[in-house]
Amino acid sequence: MQNLKTLQQWVKESKRIVFFGGAGVSTESGIPDFRSVDGLYRQKFEYPPEQIISHSFYLRDPSYFFRFYREKMLPLDFDPNITHTVLARWEQEGKLLGIVTQNIDGLHQKAGNTRVYELHGSVLRNYCVKCGKFHTAQFVKNHPDVPRCDCGGIVKPDVVLYEEPLNAQVMDDAITAIANADLLIVAGTSLTVYPAAGLIRYYNGNRMVLINRDETPYDSHANLVFHQSLGEIFKEL
Ligand code: APR
Repeated sequence: MQNLKTLQQWVKESKRIVFFGGAGVSTESGIPDFRSVDGLYRQKFEYPPEQIISHSFYLRDPSYFFRFYREKMLPLDFDPNITHTVLARWEQEGKLLGIVTQNIDGLHQKAGNTRVYELHGSVLRNYCVKCGKFHTAQFVKNHPDVPRCDCGGIVKPDVVLYEEPLNAQVMDDAITAIANADLLIVAGTSLTVYPAAGLIRYYNGNRMVLINRDETPYDSHANLVFHQSLGEIFKEL
């Protein structure tokens, strides 16, 4: 338990914490992750899921894409868990520089965080590809097939599909936060998808904490590693 004491001490001393998270942050809210044994990519579909949520598949078969997206990628009635709640408290206490997340579920904002860099976008933002009009996630959820704007254009979720670039400004902001962090907590991510995973290399301190049930390729880079559930750790912070 020495590790937990060290982490509690580091959190107490830190004024510029950055939290870098992935799908494992939301599993305790009931949203499955991708690569765990019960993750989305382990389920059987007509096509590999990573092929379906790609730009070329979206263009080729928008009906199938939106059916899969609505069913598997649009978590609307889930609540923040203890990890989200503690992060919101840290922001209120002025200890948190920001959250860099790969998640698109909007749960950090729902918990009250405002400094959230969403590397892969958010299901809460949807734009008509023709006129640019904003539409809500509910609009996409309720639409029977390919969601259409009143101008006739397709309403596309503001999430980064495979083959699409990440938003340059969001990347920049995330890198700046990580480079200025005094404590970097990397959590609930397999660190296997780039460029997101590579951003943690911008951290230049010696207090990198990794909290992940499974091993990751970056375990040896961390100063403290917990192969445990996030809730178990964050309920002590
Ligand atoms: N506590 C701690 N770790 C957890 C928990 C939990 N409650 N639940 C899951 N995990 C860990 C798993 O062990 C797994 O290694 O979280 C990790 C989640 O990894 P992935 O499912 O690969 O999710 P993520 O790393 O966010 O995926 C990155 O892949 O498909 C793309 O765009 C998608 O943003 C996603 C990206």
